[in-house]
Amino acid sequence: MCGIIGYTGKLEVQDVLINGLSRLEYRGYDSAGIAYFRENQPHISLRKTAGKVKDLRAVCDKVNPSTCGIGHTRWATHGGVSTANAHPHRVGQVALIHNGIIENYAEITRKFDLGDELQSETDTEVGAALLNHFYSETHDPKTAIRKAVAEIKGSFAFGILFEDHPGEIYAVRNVSPMVAAYDPEIGAFIASDVTAFIEHTNRYFVVPEYTIVSLSPEGIALEDLKDGKEIAPKMMTVDWDLTAAEKDGYPHFMIKEIHEQPAAITRTITPRIQDDLPDFSGDQIPDTLFDGAENVTIIACGTAMYAGMVGAEFIQNRLKMPVTVSIASEFRYSQPVIDEKSLVIVVSQSGETIDTFEALKLAKQYTDRTLSIVNVKESSIARESHYVVYTHAGPEIAVASTKAYTVQVAMMYLLGFKLGLMNGRLSEAEAKEKVQALKTVPAHMEEVLQYEKRVKELTSRMVNAQDAFYIGRGLDYRVAMEGALKLKEISYIHAEAYAAGELKHGTISLIEEGVPVIAIANQQKVYEKMISNIREVKARNAFVILISKDKAIDDPTICNVHLSIPDVPDDLTVFETAVICQLIGYYTSVGKGLDPDQPRNLAKSVTVE
Ligand code: F6R
Repeated sequence: MCGIIGYTGKLEVQDVLINGLSRLEYRGYDSAGIAYFRENQPHISLRKTAGKVKDLRAVCDKVNPSTCGIGHTRWATHGGVSTANAHPHRVGQVALIHNGIIENYAEITRKFDLGDELQSETDTEVGAALLNHFYSETHDPKTAIRKAVAEIKGSFAFGILFEDHPGEIYAVRNVSPMVAAYDPEIGAFIASDVTAFIEHTNRYFVVPEYTIVSLSPEGIALEDLKDGKEIAPKMMTVDWDLTAAEKDGYPHFMIKEIHEQPAAITRTITPRIQDDLPDFSGDQIPDTLFDGAENVTIIACGTAMYAGMVGAEFIQNRLKMPVTVSIASEFRYSQPVIDEKSLVIVVSQSGETIDTFEALKLAKQYTDRTLSIVNVKESSIARESHYVVYTHAGPEIAVASTKAYTVQVAMMYLLGFKLGLMNGRLSEAEAKEKVQALKTVPAHMEEVLQYEKRVKELTSRMVNAQDAFYIGRGLDYRVAMEGALKLKEISYIHAEAYAAGELKHGTISLIEEGVPVIAIANQQKVYEKMISNIREVKARNAFVILISKDKAIDDPTICNVHLSIPDVPDDLTVFETAVICQLIGYYTSVGKGLDPDQPRNLAKSVTVE
């Protein structure tokens, strides 16, 4: 939700900012803008526009020798999509970019009588006016920041230019993510994430909250907002290279990321397997986390929650442990029924989803057993939870999650095996057998990826659909939910997942000639029942795409198209089915002429409630 970047150094800033923004565009793509010191003099220029980063390029100067500036790509929260509402916002001597929400913007406007200075409908412009108010009094950037931050309630990652400090950028954050990097040969960067500057440097640090960051071509200084004490950054190295943040020959990030899944799963599980048993010692997870845990609560949003549901299915049905899956935004305002015997697993690709973050904080009031499954290193959720296991999906740039989901599922399984072992609900031999099977997942996913052309052809039957249904039983129902989400979010076709046995209780009235039904029949225990449910929709002339482990089904009373997946244990069919569902979503979106990477109204990393 909104991407920010700032750079000061030896390079021409306009190129650095625009290239960085195009990498951050997954965070929001309603409007974009930059501000820079014109010819490095005490004069700030702005270029901004409603639209995407490519539209911003069109309104920028052809040649721009400036070397210090800030840039923003927006996902609108306060105020509609317009050039006036695009960032940076400039008030007096201050230009500001912001990711987050200033909750008390109306109160601040009244208290400091800022109304006459505002030209947009955004909370951010109030922040700029407030900074300018204090800067006019003191002419000291750090004092202005200190005083302004003391007034602000909400989340923020600010990048700030003060007009009479050419060459310098100031930054501060609370909750909203911000990283920074410095290379003496190139200069200093801040950004919402490292993808923005990965082409220049792979050494970075996470900006600590409530720390004033001062960037100049000579370096970066950090000082505690409250007491002014110098802070040493905790340096990190990015463990993926530039190609991971580029399309690398694929037409979209989404299809590239679908193809990256086998490798991402191998990277994620290999370090956690020792002698064919789950081993989290490298993650500094003590056995006591699992030992004595009597029940499990899984908290997440969207796709991450669907990954949690797969884990829950295993924990409940195979380990026979009570487990609850909670939507983070609901958990936050519910009365949690957890205690010190509860293991709370929080799942998040970005590690920044605000509802998941707040739900985690609430859970911590009840138990010391919180564990997060997170993809982005050192993100807020990773740091807030008692323990963290990182998935190694690499950067996920397409808005619709694919590889992050399957690595989360793989991690859920490994954690489930460990939990089972520690609580005596799984023998060592059983755990070994399951781990060995999990290790074969990447190869089986590669096999399913060979269906790409076939799936592409069959989506010609989907592009004109108004509605689609995904049905399954047990674990297949859980993956059906993720399949339906993939289709609806990027193709704008209304899609619903249904427990196949529930269809007759209402939804079957929606089935009519040609309605696509993606039926998943991988759970042998309920296979016959599932086939009966499929016949019921087929008899009503639905267009049935069946995913199952059968070698071939050419019975027209069952399905129109059969996609056979490799014969793996029922628990693991979720990986292969997910790939097919992702391909269905992707090619339906492409077939409709849409951009699957940047679906309307969405953005990645949901840092607003
Ligand atoms: C859908 C999707 C979202 C995210 C959700 C949680 O394709 O990507 O549903 O899964 O916004 O995001 P994270 O995992 O970053 O907490």
